[in-house]
Amino acid sequence: MTLNRPLCCLLTGAAGFIGSHLADRLLGLGCRVIGIDNLRLGRRENLCGALESPEFTLIESDVNDLAGNRARLGPLHASRPIEIVWHLAANSDIPAGVEDPLVDLTHTLLTTVNSLTLARDLGIRRFAFASSSAVYGCHPDPLTEEGGPFRPISNYGAMKLASEGLISAALETHLEQAWVFRFPNVVGSRATHGVILDFVKRLGSDPRELAVLGNGTQCKPYLHVEELVSAMVHGVSQMAGRWNCCNIGPDGSDTTVARIAEAVVGRVAPGARIRYGATAQGWPGDVPRFRYSVERLRALGWVARLSSDEAVARAVDEVAREVLG
Ligand SMILES: NC(=O)c1ccc[n+]([C@@H]2O[C@H](COP(=O)([O-])OP(=O)(O)OC[C@H]3O[C@@H](n4cnc5c(N)ncnc54)[C@H](O)[C@@H]3O)[C@@H](O)[C@H]2O)c1
Repeated sequence: MTLNRPLCCLLTGAAGFIGSHLADRLLGLGCRVIGIDNLRLGRRENLCGALESPEFTLIESDVNDLAGNRARLGPLHASRPIEIVWHLAANSDIPAGVEDPLVDLTHTLLTTVNSLTLARDLGIRRFAFASSSAVYGCHPDPLTEEGGPFRPISNYGAMKLASEGLISAALETHLEQAWVFRFPNVVGSRATHGVILDFVKRLGSDPRELAVLGNGTQCKPYLHVEELVSAMVHGVSQMAGRWNCCNIGPDGSDTTVARIAEAVVGRVAPGARIRYGATAQGWPGDVPRFRYSVERLRALGWVARLSSDEAVARAVDEVAREVLG
């Protein structure tokens, strides 16, 4: 699907960390973007650039308010047809979803049900989805898109996997094409959650010591958010099948939590003591290590420019500047 034309897109979760960067990228390509966000976890400030564009509209509403969104979008869609839904709205607070399964049922799964129903009702036949490495669970071997195994260890991962199933089923009825992107850990400016933001905030309130959840050996691939949105745009442009599923990540590299802790201490509070926990897992539902194959993306001609460590170093600086000035 060609994106660098005045294509009209619907973007759920637009005010979030990744959604706001994707909005900027799509506007930069010449698209019209209609964002939906209930601002539960996202922030209006993330969209300060996008909101200056006449090609951007923010609808502040819950994705699960299907009737309301149909009414709000109907006239916009009639004047300029929406051609693709980018569905990013979800719960991004994984521990909250472990505590209460209704959180991920409502914000991770039901938002997919309602985004698909909205697409059906408006006749939008293309759907791109922000899935996650969390669908795989905890495995040491490189995981491939179709091979799995799929053993999520959080309600969040389970609801992402179920969402993928719903999208696959919608291809049998009303969708023409779907893209399912499985993200690694994504880092960078405007972060609303995640290990770097957490460490920066902790050191901001007590610069003497950083308490780390887990023993620091957790090891995962990290990708900078600007690279992530470029890979998504590349994937939608280059993958022309009906069901297009793709892992997105840096090229084989990963980063330990201990390294992230050291990088944040070095940037924010040099000399602070790092106090590690005793277990290899940060909290229930946290995947301590995984590695997946990005061969499919590479075969499409996209390779991350930054290694996992480089992405982390850049993000530490961006987040520290945003949070602490
Ligand atoms: N950040 C990562 O490392 C990562 C990794 C894997 C997958 N993802 C996925 O990428 C997407 C974006 O994540 P993010 O990191 O930007 O998180 P985020 O919390 O910053 O963004 C999610 C946005 O969705 C909105 N939202 C949630 N429920 C909603 C609802 N019911 N109605 C309307 N808006 C709602 C929130 O307000 C928020 O702005 C999510 O689907 C997430 O699961 C993120």
